[in-house]
Amino acid sequence: MAELGHEVLGVDVDKNKLARLEAGEVPFYEPGLEEVLKRNLAAGRLSFTTSYRQAAEFADVHFIGVGTPQKKGEFAADLRYVDSVVESLAPLLTRPTVVFGKSTVPVGTAQRLAHRMRELAPAGQAVDLAWNPEFLREGYAVQDTLQPDRLVVGIDHQCPGRAEEAAREVYAQLIEDGAPFLVTDLATSELVKTSANAFLATKISFINAMAEVCEAAGADVTVLADAIGHDARIGRRFLNAGIGFGGGCLPKDIRAFMARAGELGADQALTFLREVDNINMRRRTRMVEVVRSAVGGSLLGTRIAILGAAFKPDSDDVRDSPALNIAGQVQLQGASVTVYDPQAIETSRQLFPTLEYATSTIEASQGADAVVVLTEWDEFRKLHPSDLNDFVRNRRIIDGRNCLSPNTWASAGWEYRGLGRPPIRANTEHLRPESQTGVSSVTG
Ligand code: UDX
Repeated sequence: MAELGHEVLGVDVDKNKLARLEAGEVPFYEPGLEEVLKRNLAAGRLSFTTSYRQAAEFADVHFIGVGTPQKKGEFAADLRYVDSVVESLAPLLTRPTVVFGKSTVPVGTAQRLAHRMRELAPAGQAVDLAWNPEFLREGYAVQDTLQPDRLVVGIDHQCPGRAEEAAREVYAQLIEDGAPFLVTDLATSELVKTSANAFLATKISFINAMAEVCEAAGADVTVLADAIGHDARIGRRFLNAGIGFGGGCLPKDIRAFMARAGELGADQALTFLREVDNINMRRRTRMVEVVRSAVGGSLLGTRIAILGAAFKPDSDDVRDSPALNIAGQVQLQGASVTVYDPQAIETSRQLFPTLEYATSTIEASQGADAVVVLTEWDEFRKLHPSDLNDFVRNRRIIDGRNCLSPNTWASAGWEYRGLGRPPIRANTEHLRPESQTGVSSVTG
């Protein structure tokens, strides 16, 4: 918002986080965000507070962007943080104000909050609540915010008020730049977000289901994805088979969607999402089986290097990360596991203190019986067998994201395994005349 030229006050209950932001430090890893933060702090357009009173006095437009995690032991979303913002802010709104919800919420929440907001606010009917779902991806947050592929604003059609006008003003620059601007009712806007994430999750689980069939049939899912992806109706994006989706959004959003559909009596419509979730979780188990079989059938006493802990590259987020989950399972089966990630070591250590962590790929790979790539960071994609040849005990590479070239590794004398593609035995023939060293340690 500050980058778009607005005067912005950020509110949070966490004083430490605010202190770091005020010092120009982003409390998580997100490429490009620190520059935006520093630029706007320096321009005096951005400041922070813990005071709702100050926020209510300061702003004409408020955005609610708090988390809606999965409830413990249930599929449903936990709305306590969103509710708490409304309960704290509304009683302080004494003049006409527009409040936009950005958090991902179960359909029906916005209407409930709109009533509550007006009930609590001294300004009453002069307070408008609208929903403006957020579609940004971690790792591309700045780009997705400043060049969004669409803007969606859900308006309370019973009391339209000033919300659409306010959204057009706030986003004027983006609309002028050509971002499609869609105005809907409240329920549709909430559903746009959940159904978009459900579709993406389904697309990933579809290709992972194909990976299972490819494994059974000896076919290659990466080639299959390229081939079907050329059909413009299907498209190649989000067809990368591997260890599946994780993170703070897709897994909990499809579960909350199923729970909400059940409450609405539409549970049958979303039973397929349970299968989407099942396929996704099976990939983690499958990956552990692939690692176990690669090292000869038992993980006991083996050394496994895990490259990648974040749920995806360019993020330090390890919430529901398939990579960390697999690292934990491999360790539980008796392997000595060392994890390296370019950004997510600290966040991983907090969540999984019992794993060993290394500060580089080479350190993690020392004496390894298998090197397992679980997050497709650029630095892992660019790895060359010669970077690791002298450090591992056995030349085996297992590619949980199908992000490496099987031929490069096989022709350097490594056994390569991906997910949903046939294993490739080390090709050592051409290595023999030049070099005898290292080849004898390769097992097929
Ligand atoms: C997602 C949505 O993309 C975004 O629009 C929404 O606002 C928030 O949720 P994000 O959680 O940042 O964004 O991650 P995303 O890029 O969607 O990836 C989610 C997971 O799917 C990751 O674990 C990723 O590794 C996995 N994935 C993605 C695949 O396994 N295969 C793919 O082809 C694509």
